[in-house]
Amino acid sequence: MMAAPLLSIDKLHVQFRTYAGVVHAVNGMSFDVRKGEIFGLVGESGCGKSVTGLAILRMVPHPGQISAGSILFHGEDLLLKSKSEMQAIRGGRIAMIFQDPSASLNPVFTIGNQITRVIRQHLPVSRDEAKERALSMFAAVGLPDPENIFHTYPHELSGGLQQRAMIALALSTGAELLVADEPTTALDVTIQAQILVLLAELRDKQGVSILLITHNLGVVAETCDRVGVAYAGSIVEMGDTEDVLYHMKHPYTHGLLAALPHPSRRGQLLQAIEGNVPNGLALPSGCPFHPRCEHVMDVCREKKPELVCLGAEHLVACHLYDEQRS
Ligand SMILES: Nc1ncnc2c1ncn2[C@@H]1O[C@H](COP(=O)(O)OP(=O)(O)OP(=O)(O)O)[C@@H](O)[C@H]1O
Ligand SMILES: [Mg+2]
Repeated sequence: MMAAPLLSIDKLHVQFRTYAGVVHAVNGMSFDVRKGEIFGLVGESGCGKSVTGLAILRMVPHPGQISAGSILFHGEDLLLKSKSEMQAIRGGRIAMIFQDPSASLNPVFTIGNQITRVIRQHLPVSRDEAKERALSMFAAVGLPDPENIFHTYPHELSGGLQQRAMIALALSTGAELLVADEPTTALDVTIQAQILVLLAELRDKQGVSILLITHNLGVVAETCDRVGVAYAGSIVEMGDTEDVLYHMKHPYTHGLLAALPHPSRRGQLLQAIEGNVPNGLALPSGCPFHPRCEHVMDVCREKKPELVCLGAEHLVACHLYDEQRS
């Protein structure tokens, strides 16, 4: 049976009003994150992944503005919440981690000080109870010697351990949804793999749902249950990871996968997608991918394709499939 969506983003638009003009960073983004799943949001640099993640927490930086759409969490629109309601949700029920843990951890306080502060901000517990909770979180994220970690400063830890501490901090208040924006990009490959295993464990053991933002299809293949491929601020293809990565339908997804190095193509030139990602300031008419698409038709220049179901769980936004929707 299909799990109910915990988070449901519908036709989200985020714009930045800049001196150069209006940048359409997120442009009709729609996807769900279901309870207990890891949903991957993947796409090239600049396609609106981080801005979408920040929008969920209503943390889009100035001069960005959420201009349309809805973000339902447990069926309630986060865009209609008051500032104080949002403060309680942020870090309480929805947590976010970023690429660089050292930028999110405060260098002048011990890890223990920071995590107990976060816990006590959101939960009515004593200092001792908060410490207890912190130590058990450290153990849950595989930090060795929790008592010792509690008294260390961030810079005393390696990047991998910092990211574990960051995850412990993010989940210490029992968040149901973790938005993880490129959580492994700054780490060595072996440490990267360990953090991905940890995220899957936290999903399995603590039931936390994860929105995993990444530009790395390998990370998606290894970790995600479902995946949405974003292009110019909206989803062009979405479905079970296996369907999207092995039975991809959208010409852009084809291009992304063809651009990956593969042992069987050793020695051959990588096939990059011709042309550039549109720059948000001047989005192409119709389908944003049409200027780069080898299958472009007249309709693609005029009308933006909607996401339609090809199979029960496989959606694609492409006019090539206009006739085939189920
Ligand atoms: N503060 C800002 N002012 C103006 N434009 C911005 C700002 N922040 C983001 N943008 C624009 O929004 C678009 C989406 O940016 P975003 O950071 O979400 O991309 P991304 O998919 O996370 O890319 P990356 O893989 O590089 O992290 C980009 O075109 C970017 O130029
Ligand atoms: Mg980003």
